[in-house]
Amino acid sequence: MPTTARRVSTFGTTIFTEINSLAQEYNAVNLGQGRPDFDGPQAVIEAAVAALRSGQANQYPPGPGTPEFKTGVANHALRFYDMDIDPANGVLVTPGATEAVFCSIMGLVDPGDEVIVIEPFFDSYVPGIIMAGAVPVYVPLRPPDWAFDADELRAAFTPRTRALILNTPHNPTGRVFTREELQTIADLCQEYDVTVISDEVYEHLVFEDARHIPIATLPGMFERTVSIGSAGKTFGMTGWKVGWVYGHPEIVAGVKRAQQFVSFATNHLAQQQAVAHAFA
Ligand SMILES: Cc1ncc(COP(=O)(O)O)c(C=O)c1O
Repeated sequence: MPTTARRVSTFGTTIFTEINSLAQEYNAVNLGQGRPDFDGPQAVIEAAVAALRSGQANQYPPGPGTPEFKTGVANHALRFYDMDIDPANGVLVTPGATEAVFCSIMGLVDPGDEVIVIEPFFDSYVPGIIMAGAVPVYVPLRPPDWAFDADELRAAFTPRTRALILNTPHNPTGRVFTREELQTIADLCQEYDVTVISDEVYEHLVFEDARHIPIATLPGMFERTVSIGSAGKTFGMTGWKVGWVYGHPEIVAGVKRAQQFVSFATNHLAQQQAVAHAFA
């Protein structure tokens, strides 16, 4: 009888499957998974229909993403963060941010390396680390402010630390890390020569005085950070499953190497939709 591989044998079901089925069982209002009660803009849906009929989106797109979409990601980084991104080599389009994180781990971390994760964390991070044969090292955020303790963070770094997964704005606490906190992380990453996988899917969901700062914009961080976004999150259409990774071409190259043998390419139609809606 075939058995499950050891690398996945400890995995439970995702928290979303668990909460969705409990909500159904108890007929409860399900706040467990982002599911807006409105659809995306009608114009985008019409653009998708037109793209399907045009015959331009029914075949494979280029593996790393369509040139229009990659240019859109680079323009977005320039417009919001004054970052100069090379659309041809510094952007990779993925089927959602989940795969962007997975391929970043696969492409930038070796078996046996340690990867720091800030707890609580989005539920795909640790399985990704385990599938890469690496070791998760946890640093907690503590209530009531959901801040990390700088000494605890420092204690998590060792000569075996290869990467740190950062998520700001943070799911599930909603915490937006301050420049000072990011600087603390950045200083340690530079001291220990650590790569940052920066999951920024909620970059535009910030309220009141909070301001999202990509850690890649801090001095010395661009060369060691991959920044990750999600069209599904940004435009409230999670079914698109379009995400992206951007950064210095040399570090994005590692992520690309992994992604070409994971999904190879991202849904062509969804890339066209995103361009029509947001990155035109
Ligand atoms: C922090 C975080 N990263 C990534 C994702 C997944 O994004 P995508 O749907 O683009 O794969 C989610 C979805 O909930 C999330 O909360």
